[in-house]
Amino acid sequence: MEGALIARDRVGVQDFVLLDSHTSETAFLNNLRKRYQENLIYTYIGTLLVSVNPYKELDIYTMTQMQLYRGVNFFELPPHLYAIADNAYRVMCSEYNNHFILISGESGAGKTEASKKILQYYAVTCPTTEQLQIVRDRLLLSNPVLEAFGNAKTLRNDNSSRFGKYMDIQFDFKGAPVGGHILSYLIEKSRVVHQNHGERNFHIFYQLLEGGDKDLLCWLGLERNPQKYSYLIQGRCAKVFSINDKNDWKIVRKAFSIIDFTEKDIEHLLGIVASVLHFGNIQFEEDSNGHAIIRNGTQIKWISKLLGVHLSILQEALTHRKIEARSEEVLSPLNVDLAFYARDAVAKAIYGRTFTWLVNKINGSLANKDSTRKTVIGLLDIYGFEVLDTNSFEQFCINYCNEKLQQLLIEMTLKAEQEEYELEGIEWEPIPYFNNKIICDLVEQKYKGIISILDEECLRPGEATDLSFLEKLEEKVGDHAHFVTRKLADQKTRKSIDWVDFRLLHYAGEVTYCAVGFLEKNNDLLYRNLKEVLCNSKNVIIRDCFLLSELDNRRRPETVATQFKNSLTSLIEILMSKEPSYVRCIKPNENKEPGKFDDYLIRHQVKYLGLMEHLRVRRAGFAYRRKYELFLQRYKSLCPATWPHWRGPAAEGVEKLIKHIGYKPEEYKLGRTKIFIRFPKTLFATEDAFEFRKHLLVSRLQAKYKGCLGKREYQKKREAAIKLEACWRGALARKEAKRRTWAVQIIRKFINGFINRKNPLCPENVEFVRLVQYTYFMKLRDHVPKNVLDKSWLQPPSILEETSQMLQKICIRNLVRKYCRGVTAEKKVQLQQKVVASAIFRGKKEGYLQSINQPFMDTRLKENDINPKVLQLIHGEKIKYVTPVVKYDRNGFKARERLLVLTQASAYVVEMAKIKQKIDYATLKGISTSNLSDGMVVIHVPEDNKQKGDVILQCEHIFETVTKLCMLANKQNLVKVVQGSLQFRVGSGKEGTMIFTVGQEPQIFKAKDGQLTVAGRHVKTENPASTSSWLQGSVNPDKGLMRNRNCSWSLSWLGTERSLQDEISTHLSTGTFDAIGLL
Ligand SMILES: Nc1ncnc2c1ncn2[C@@H]1O[C@H](COP(=O)(O)OP(=O)(O)OP(=O)(O)O)[C@@H](O)[C@H]1O
Ligand SMILES: [Mg+2]
Repeated sequence: MEGALIARDRVGVQDFVLLDSHTSETAFLNNLRKRYQENLIYTYIGTLLVSVNPYKELDIYTMTQMQLYRGVNFFELPPHLYAIADNAYRVMCSEYNNHFILISGESGAGKTEASKKILQYYAVTCPTTEQLQIVRDRLLLSNPVLEAFGNAKTLRNDNSSRFGKYMDIQFDFKGAPVGGHILSYLIEKSRVVHQNHGERNFHIFYQLLEGGDKDLLCWLGLERNPQKYSYLIQGRCAKVFSINDKNDWKIVRKAFSIIDFTEKDIEHLLGIVASVLHFGNIQFEEDSNGHAIIRNGTQIKWISKLLGVHLSILQEALTHRKIEARSEEVLSPLNVDLAFYARDAVAKAIYGRTFTWLVNKINGSLANKDSTRKTVIGLLDIYGFEVLDTNSFEQFCINYCNEKLQQLLIEMTLKAEQEEYELEGIEWEPIPYFNNKIICDLVEQKYKGIISILDEECLRPGEATDLSFLEKLEEKVGDHAHFVTRKLADQKTRKSIDWVDFRLLHYAGEVTYCAVGFLEKNNDLLYRNLKEVLCNSKNVIIRDCFLLSELDNRRRPETVATQFKNSLTSLIEILMSKEPSYVRCIKPNENKEPGKFDDYLIRHQVKYLGLMEHLRVRRAGFAYRRKYELFLQRYKSLCPATWPHWRGPAAEGVEKLIKHIGYKPEEYKLGRTKIFIRFPKTLFATEDAFEFRKHLLVSRLQAKYKGCLGKREYQKKREAAIKLEACWRGALARKEAKRRTWAVQIIRKFINGFINRKNPLCPENVEFVRLVQYTYFMKLRDHVPKNVLDKSWLQPPSILEETSQMLQKICIRNLVRKYCRGVTAEKKVQLQQKVVASAIFRGKKEGYLQSINQPFMDTRLKENDINPKVLQLIHGEKIKYVTPVVKYDRNGFKARERLLVLTQASAYVVEMAKIKQKIDYATLKGISTSNLSDGMVVIHVPEDNKQKGDVILQCEHIFETVTKLCMLANKQNLVKVVQGSLQFRVGSGKEGTMIFTVGQEPQIFKAKDGQLTVAGRHVKTENPASTSSWLQGSVNPDKGLMRNRNCSWSLSWLGTERSLQDEISTHLSTGTFDAIGLL
């Protein structure tokens, strides 16, 4: 109902109980139409389902739909057959009780379809096992077989059920379908022999002819063409467009095998079907005595074969009647009419009883042998109220059945209502409704009822006719308010009733019955001799249907009406013991047209289906009732006291709630567990308020939900972050621990290595040694000497001493090699000269140290500074060196400026354009200088006339000049550095002496003793760095030696005892220079 409340505005109300004007048929129809036009074919009246045949396939019976309705509260989803089926099933499972679903409605309204859909729903949704699968299949496949034998095309329905059917589905304690049982009611046997125009016989005949294979038909003596059989052509529509007999035959054949039919059963069953057709083709003619004889023996032969009866006995039985007179039996021949009657009677009897056998056979296959307790859900697919143009005995029975069922419904509904009121402690209010018991009594009452009167007429001796029956009725029930005949009717109604009619005022409306045929149909007579023939049949089914005991029973068989009444009574008993659900089917139009809503037709059905009655009963008390918990749950948001939680008992909460909403006392009642609301408008107002409130709640819920989501997300992230942190910390700690363990191992190894460092290489010390080596080499890399003069070397560990020495050697060699490569030819010459100078002067003459850093020049004067005449004189000799000198006379020691020119072979003392003295190197005797810094040099020459004597010169660049001279003369070892004085030759055998002293001022003079005195000054030992510029530039570390700005190198080696010559000699001794060929 909650679902209905929500959808009410769009497509009417889903539950008629909520209709405001519940007594208005128009309002009822409007609601039905509104929904039907939207393809909503189902609507509730409380728990009753009204279904309107859509006459088209709707997408509402899918698996998804079945799953949707499975286990869902009845009122939560839109009305549906599945909701009814599911509700019954669920209550059955939970309360372990029995149920039935009563499906009624007029022919073509959709009862059989509904029952099939319910069966399918159970087959699909109920739990099952592989073992039970077969039961399920049998339940489902029993339908096509029963429909083949019990359904036929009528004007109203192409698949009209011509029998009433009640089917029990048995469930075990787990709710699995484990068996079933079928009861059939009043099969329309007359159809076997007669069909109205546009109608057909039962489907099985056409299916067999259309689908049976050739051999089968041949065996049955049948032809495929239905036109050949008089029982099939009376309606003149053997072929129907909407029916596929061939296909249906296949389904039936398959079903036979599933429902446990043996080949013999099928053979005999089809033999009966075929023999019915053969019966229909038997023709009689009169003999000369006016007695009936069979015109053609062919059919009777086939019948005799198929039913296994004696041919001549059958022949006789069809044309004679056995009359028992006291102890004698007399055979009385029949006239043609009676013979036809007998023929049809036997055909109907055979078919009718075979149908019953078929139902029993199916029951046998559906029976559950297990004796444990089972619960059942019964499906009652029974004809609804029938009002035809001419209503006969069948309609009388059918309508009587509907009266009974209406009675059941009223009783059960009212009972349920009453019980509920009592249970809830609500005062019982009498419900105004029409109780149709009075009509049921009119029909069924013992002795006084119509059926009793009919039976009486049938049984009484004498000439009983349909008219005499009518008279009896007038006599016995003429004063009944619901009974009228033409004789009893008033002026106005009389016209509409014939003399042979009687009219009953059923709860659903008036129905006029034609009494003609009532007696015959009620008697359903089959001549005894025909029965005898059938009792002796070799066809097992026929023998089962016609028991010999029946012949011995002298009592008259029960009439059809009484049989029907009894079966109805037991059906009602069966139903009364079960919980009911109702489905009322409505046919929307006569043309089987989808979408067409015929108001007139439907109004009629609404009436005789008793829907308005039912609605009134439902609404008599209260329109709506709901358990306090549910009511509070739904509407609690409407009251601040109950929202969002009500902690006390639900009943008190509801009381608070309705007080807050403002219900008036007459609008509701409070029961023990439920609230009862009298008018729909009260409920709708509440629902509207709830709808309004819902929006607010939804946004709140949304906000709350979003908040929750956010919080959940935050918490998730936080937890993740904490986890990550923990993991990360753990990872770090593990890493640290690993590092420490590693460190400990390394330290241990280190210590071990250190302890064993002196041992030969072994596992204990190998790494330590390697480390020491590595560390030393790495350090050494940064501390290798950068130039040849850098004598520093990193102290090696003891294990690397040898290696270190080798490396140092290689390093020095490499530096020297680099240095040597950087030395130019000129520089080489200079160095050679310096080496010579060093050999001569180092430690002997003052000023030498200071001169070291002054490079020797190639020459002090250029060639063009020399007078060309001189040049001319010495032409042919290459001038190697020219320097200005001061020459002292050998006698007066006068100072004269001269040039000293050194060539390849001689030294010349030149005065302007004159060569004053030439000294051949070959004759050179020696070169002397003092140990002081006076610049004096004496070149000793041999004593011959050509020479004037030794040459006394003073030069500014004494070391340079002397070195060059001695080198050119190749007489380095003739150079002497003297102390104090030296002797020189003056010429012509005379000698002079030169005294060297130290004075304040440097001066050269002739002393009183006539000796040349040279007073020199002591040269302060200067910082050679200041004078070492020529070395700095030339000794470029990049190119060979170094670029050391503070020149510490030069200091270091100049300051040591070792001379440059030693240094270079060392290198020479190593062979480095030789190897590279530089020196
Ligand atoms: N729910 C439905 N959906 C679609 N078509 C339906 C539905 N119900 C019934 N029909 C159509 O209506 C036809 C008649 O339905 P059905 O045979 O169930 O009627 P019935 O009430 O059993 O009639 P009868 O009393 O003659 O047996 C079906 O053959 C089918 O074509
Ligand atoms: Mg049917």
